[in-house]
Amino acid sequence: MKRILLIVSGGIAAYKALELVRLLSKAGYGVRCVLTPAGEKFVTPMALQALSGEKVYTDLFSLTDESEMGHIELSRSADLVVVAPASADILAKMAAGLAGDLASTLLLATDKRVLVAPAMNVRMWEHPATRANMARLESRGVLVVAPDSGPMACGEFGPGRLAEPPVILAAIEAALGVAGPLSGRHAIVTSGPTHEPIDPVRYIANRSSGKQGHAIAAALAALGARVTLVSGPVSIADPAGVQTLHVETAAQMLAAVEAALPADVAVCAAAVGDWRVATAAQKMKKAGGAPPALQLAENPDILAQLSAPGPLRPRLVVGFAAETEHLAEYAAAKRARKGCDWIVANNVGGTGIMGGEENEVLLLSDEGAQAWPKLSKREVAGLLAEKIGKIFA
Ligand code: C5P
Repeated sequence: MKRILLIVSGGIAAYKALELVRLLSKAGYGVRCVLTPAGEKFVTPMALQALSGEKVYTDLFSLTDESEMGHIELSRSADLVVVAPASADILAKMAAGLAGDLASTLLLATDKRVLVAPAMNVRMWEHPATRANMARLESRGVLVVAPDSGPMACGEFGPGRLAEPPVILAAIEAALGVAGPLSGRHAIVTSGPTHEPIDPVRYIANRSSGKQGHAIAAALAALGARVTLVSGPVSIADPAGVQTLHVETAAQMLAAVEAALPADVAVCAAAVGDWRVATAAQKMKKAGGAPPALQLAENPDILAQLSAPGPLRPRLVVGFAAETEHLAEYAAAKRARKGCDWIVANNVGGTGIMGGEENEVLLLSDEGAQAWPKLSKREVAGLLAEKIGKIFA
């Protein structure tokens, strides 16, 4: 039986932790709960104990708890540590490495993966301090189930509501790699556009929304893969159960991808800027006369580098080809030129594909070309992940 250590911190969303414990128990997981002092104001140890069927821990300095099970043991006997809801306070403690109470001590002492489901007021969620804490936690590999947007208990509207318990359960299952064909496999996915700075205030970008790449990352995680998503600047949430690394430029994307290797599979869905600008150190000023000419230099080709033979080449490398004409012909040439195994080609000539919700693709592999009907980007991601799963089954 897989064991979850569930840390419930303070906030009105703590009541949803009861439902999460019920779902986890029903799915056959052993759940041991830790309640922070603030969490105890919203749910009782008794309620969590009744639903989990296990003792609930609240106190770092409890002699009885320590004699039964030391706090280090408590943090290590689980397969996954989950913090839901994760308040701004506990996220800040995690980011800073504080260990002044039972929950933060467990989080500092654990050698297991940690998944957090934040819930807080929208202003607290958007505060630069929380943004910085989240970035720091994600860079350390903490998995995040992003909060939902909507009306909040405090009367405000925006992101900050705890994700629904079934969504958190799915992220837990993905993090544990439950019984999927990609269990134990590592996948790297690139997604979104890149921003190539011209000067400190301007940049060159493209219309990529990251929807397709993010959906692929989520679909691979749902089949059990450990997924590292390297994302350019996008306005969509990080997928649940996936480690998301945020970058801006092609050079940063390549560095993040290289640092994430080795991997079994790589899917390059990002619309990487082909060129970067020899950037100006100061903002360019309108000086009258001729406008400045931009000096462009070619960016590294991440897909081609990943596809090159060598000990770190993933077993399967998948590239994308966004074309506006001669789709099959250009995509086949791109597959040969880049050296990747598969190419997912799509026509971005019409309006609404780049940035839109749907995609109509042609998949090129050794088996030839397969045309898929127009589907939602989530469906395309699901089909692609399934096909990838078959390679590793
Ligand atoms: O050459 P083109 O940009 O059309 O190739 C598209 C494919 O190559 C995509 O899979 C994209 O993610 C990848 N690519 C890359 N690095 C680049 C340019 C493209 O990984 N610098």
